[in-house]
Amino acid sequence: MALSKGFSTPTGLQPEPRTPDKRLPTLLVVDDELEITESMADLFRHNYHVVTATSADEALELLRQQDVSVIISDQRMPGKTGSELLAEACLINPDAARIILTGYADLGAVIEAVNEGKIFFYLTKPWSSAELTTVVAKAMEHNSLLRDNRRLVKELRIFNAELEERVKDRTSQLVQQVKMASIGQLAAGVAHEINNPMGFITSNLGTLGKYMHKISEYLGIIEGGGDSASARSRLKIDFVFKDAGQLISESLDGAIRIKNIVTDLKSLSYEDTEGLVRSDVNRCLEIALNIAGNEIGKVANIEKQYGETTEIACHPQQLSQVFINLLNNACQAIEGQGTITVRTWYESGSVYATISDTGSGMPAEIQQRIFEPFFTTKEVGKGIGLGLSISYDIIHKHGGEITVESEIGKGTTFAIRLPGSHVE
Ligand SMILES: Nc1ncnc2c1ncn2[C@@H]1O[C@H](COP(=O)(O)OP(=O)(O)OP(=O)(O)O)[C@@H](O)[C@H]1O
Ligand SMILES: [Mg+2]
Repeated sequence: MALSKGFSTPTGLQPEPRTPDKRLPTLLVVDDELEITESMADLFRHNYHVVTATSADEALELLRQQDVSVIISDQRMPGKTGSELLAEACLINPDAARIILTGYADLGAVIEAVNEGKIFFYLTKPWSSAELTTVVAKAMEHNSLLRDNRRLVKELRIFNAELEERVKDRTSQLVQQVKMASIGQLAAGVAHEINNPMGFITSNLGTLGKYMHKISEYLGIIEGGGDSASARSRLKIDFVFKDAGQLISESLDGAIRIKNIVTDLKSLSYEDTEGLVRSDVNRCLEIALNIAGNEIGKVANIEKQYGETTEIACHPQQLSQVFINLLNNACQAIEGQGTITVRTWYESGSVYATISDTGSGMPAEIQQRIFEPFFTTKEVGKGIGLGLSISYDIIHKHGGEITVESEIGKGTTFAIRLPGSHVE
């Protein structure tokens, strides 16, 4: 054990057989004279993995099999010339740097190939080893630049694809957020719409309770043989009966209003994936008005000009969503008090709906961009610019169109056309 310490194994003392190092760049030498290919192989073997060919066809075969970085070819060879070979090599491996060695007589053809981008470098005979190694080193640099470029372009493509994917994800998150926001707004609107009738129903029931007491007191007096006439006037029994009737009918109206709101809500909460159903555009608009009405009422009076019943195959909840978006925009465009006019009509196979406001209007350059996702002129927190792009998608998915006309200081009209048959 102690003796063998520090000695190399016998095989370690032998010169190792040369095996092509795969990490070295590959240099392909093409010449019909074997002596030349051999001397070049010798010249470059320390820095390159050298492969040789004695004809253009053999060289092309090698190019198909191996990842060659640099090609050196003689110009004059039987069969294809060097410049013809390199022109074909471009198609097999466009990154390989191509060098040609030429006699003075063929220089014209070589320069033409250089001009066409098929050859990078050329050397005229006779050349020195120093010249050749310099040119090959330059060609190598060129090749690695091309490879880097290609790798960067590939990485950039992957990066772009990832980015696109992330933007898609983020957009669908935002679309979801907008939906949630409109659900929040819807909830606030609905709460108000329900609270109001609930308020008077509760108060009416309180009054009716008091009236019940009066009636039972009155009945007690009659049963006890008391003065019914004076009790009737003291307890205002006639008024109680008359008013009770009114309170009951008012409360019933309120209850029906609540029931209608709940029905509207139900029709809005159907899943988007459900198929098309036949629905009335007027009804979709009415639902939108019921929901956004609370906000609208603060800034505008609403004029409704509904045409005849206009039933079409559609996703009614999505159409209501579009109308809510348009009504919200109209509201936000009005400074002080204004008017919002909604109009629907049927004309030659299409149903039309317009929503007009007497708001600020917009200049042409803004009108051109309003349907772009995330285009907004509103301050942070007021709008993210998705309302109209979502509406645009919905209308186009229904096979319809949405257009805008606007005049600064006068107002804006959004017009929707939906294909549909008229139902009497
Ligand atoms: N009725 C209108 N009057 C004037 N400008 C409008 C009207 N409707 C839309 N716009 C303009 O178009 C822009 C885009 O509208 P869109 O509904 O897509 O987004 P937003 O209202 O800004 O935000 P979001 O709807 O996502 O809350 C608005 O910022 C506004 O400048
Ligand atoms: Mg909007």
